[in-house]
Amino acid sequence: MKVLKLNIVLFGVFLSLISCSNSNSTLSISSKVSSIKDIDGKVNELLGRMTLEEKVGQMNQYVGFWDLTGPAPKSGDAAEKYEHLRKGYVGSMLNVRGVENVRGVQKIAVEESRLGIPLIIGFDVIHGYETISPIPLAESASWDLEAIRKSSEVAAEEAAAAGINWTFAPMVDITRDARWGRVMEGAGEDPYLGSKIAKARVLGFQGTDLSAHTTIAACAKHFAGYGFSESGREYNTVDVGTSTLNNMIFPPFQATVEAGVRTFMNAFNVLNGIPATGNKYLQRDVLKGKWGFDGFVVTDWGSIDEMTSHGLAKDGKEAAKIAANAGSDMDMESHLYVKELSALVREGKVKASFIDDAVKRILKVKFELGLFENPYKYCDETREKEVIGQQSFHDAVLDVAKKSIVLLKNDNQLLPLKKQGQKIALIGALAADKNSPLGNWRIAAKDNSAVSVLEGMQAYKENKLVYAKGADVNVGYTAFTAQVHINTTDKSEFPQAIQAARSADVVVMVLGEIGYQSGEGRSRTKLGLPGVQQELLEAVYKVNKNIVLVLNNGRPLVLNWHQQHLPAIVEAWQLGTQSGNAIAQVLYGDYNPSGKLPMSFPRAVGQAPIYYNYKNTGRPTGAPGVFWSHYEDEKNSPLYPFGYGLSYTSFEYSNLQVKVVSGNKVNISVTLKNSGQKTGKEVVQLYIRDHFASVTRPVKELKGFELVTLEPSESKEISFILTEEELGFYDNDGQFIFEKGDFTIFVGGDSNANLQAQITL
Ligand code: BGC
Repeated sequence: MKVLKLNIVLFGVFLSLISCSNSNSTLSISSKVSSIKDIDGKVNELLGRMTLEEKVGQMNQYVGFWDLTGPAPKSGDAAEKYEHLRKGYVGSMLNVRGVENVRGVQKIAVEESRLGIPLIIGFDVIHGYETISPIPLAESASWDLEAIRKSSEVAAEEAAAAGINWTFAPMVDITRDARWGRVMEGAGEDPYLGSKIAKARVLGFQGTDLSAHTTIAACAKHFAGYGFSESGREYNTVDVGTSTLNNMIFPPFQATVEAGVRTFMNAFNVLNGIPATGNKYLQRDVLKGKWGFDGFVVTDWGSIDEMTSHGLAKDGKEAAKIAANAGSDMDMESHLYVKELSALVREGKVKASFIDDAVKRILKVKFELGLFENPYKYCDETREKEVIGQQSFHDAVLDVAKKSIVLLKNDNQLLPLKKQGQKIALIGALAADKNSPLGNWRIAAKDNSAVSVLEGMQAYKENKLVYAKGADVNVGYTAFTAQVHINTTDKSEFPQAIQAARSADVVVMVLGEIGYQSGEGRSRTKLGLPGVQQELLEAVYKVNKNIVLVLNNGRPLVLNWHQQHLPAIVEAWQLGTQSGNAIAQVLYGDYNPSGKLPMSFPRAVGQAPIYYNYKNTGRPTGAPGVFWSHYEDEKNSPLYPFGYGLSYTSFEYSNLQVKVVSGNKVNISVTLKNSGQKTGKEVVQLYIRDHFASVTRPVKELKGFELVTLEPSESKEISFILTEEELGFYDNDGQFIFEKGDFTIFVGGDSNANLQAQITL
């Protein structure tokens, strides 16, 4: 926290330097290059007039002295940054936000530097700017690509109104290990679903016209392998084979390239011995070579410098050389490009053509954003006031929040709750918490701006609602950078909670993790409810078993006791600004839950990483004796599988028809019936298994899904088509191949889908 305070003071100094700056020195570049029509022509013309130092400057990104989203920089102060801005030695700033502040820094770059090249302003708009949507993992549980696209569109429009023109999102890392805190930021464990969601998010942020003042450039991150850190420990080593890399890790990244994503961020981790930032294979060979990506790559925070700690570079200069040669175009917060790169080029250690290539990519995106035409196009105070927090944004985040909720258990139709004549005890600190629902990575949100569950439920006035906290979750975890981790041990308020529960018809307990217990730097070795929450739950259970457990969390938890004892469990994640309204509407049945898990929920931490699309092993089944792939003390399967989620109605699958037509095309149809009493939505999921291949294939792979809404008793035929694109895979040389052979097709409501048919191609 000390660091943060110091930097707020420095930011003040910085702003005062800005306001003293002379504003009418040089002309904006726009007037100098406007005669050339196409962007590449403009970029080349400008490049031709830049000195080496100015080119390197474009490759330098500084943090504004405000929000620190990484360790404090080792070098540089406000005066130096100001000087560098004036000299044109800064291409981008991150974590400067709000029109006044963005205008301030932009003005120095545009009006005081020799060439007046505008800055691109980056910010982590991960799940909303000020109006916060569900954490990305939660949103992914909606499987609703349009709602997800819309949520990114809203985030872009709101951030753009605050001066931002570039988000460091979407994070498209495949994540299988709930111990890793950043699972909250991605789309879960599946590359097919992950690719669709990655694309939807890019389209949401960037729209169809990047030069509009409502759209911002997106950034696919973290390239690559970050989600596979050993033992789920943050920033840890990654060692994966080519099959996993090509078939699991790469596809969502490639999908963003196909969707036209304008930037990539590399990763903190080493991948097979080479840090991602210095990894030529990833950046030059695959991304810019094979996939033809024509945007630019920004490093992750300080990751050039970190290559010395990794043991790849002996000092900062060597690290800068390796990063530039490997294709890292912009240095986020290592300050090493600006310091070392010009000399490295003069010494012949980095090719001048690499610098030109990087700068062209960066300038191109700035042109596409329209920043040269009008560097202040994102800086409109009136728009900022009118747009931020507008009602339509709240409507959109409420919509996706409802769709993100997953019903895990509902015995005897305890849910939905009756709307009248009930006495409901609402228990748990998270029930009244207005901050935790915002989750992590919500830097621009106002603290305590979410609707709590308590507030959401108070809108249903015809029941008697009694709230008792029971116990806090944690003390000290109040900020993005806070390091203390103290789960409370205080049980002094248990008696009030037990008392409230004793006389209630139904007990709603809201338990889980506070907003900062997942996210960057928040790996955990235990996946139970933190603090004394489990004790509280069991104490309440002793007096009233009619418990609806509402979970607020940023990762899969271990819920064996809960599944065994409790009648109803609702996975409500961290749902953003409208959280409490979304949860109340689901609990009362005004929205029939339709979410499906994007990650498997383990039975024990020891199963992690656990995922549905595993390989079969040579000894997959339970012959008597010990010589098969299993645990002594736990099942192999997860508690809740990928794709799982219930509804207040029920669905029946029947009549699976699979027909092979010419050209290795497979037509599939299935009948879905709403066999329950309520209108509901089902995510129909299609999986395949390729039984024999030159590289072994997973036991199941998602290859299609469709959201279907049906009235009670209504039936519908759902069709899918599989082609070589879905039936093929990447071999160990990274080539996409299709091999004929035996396949099983599965259709159902989760990854245990067992309605199946065999085909031979
Ligand atoms: C994170 C990135 C983020 C960057 C800038 C890093 O610590 O890994 O995902 O975009 O900070 O805030």
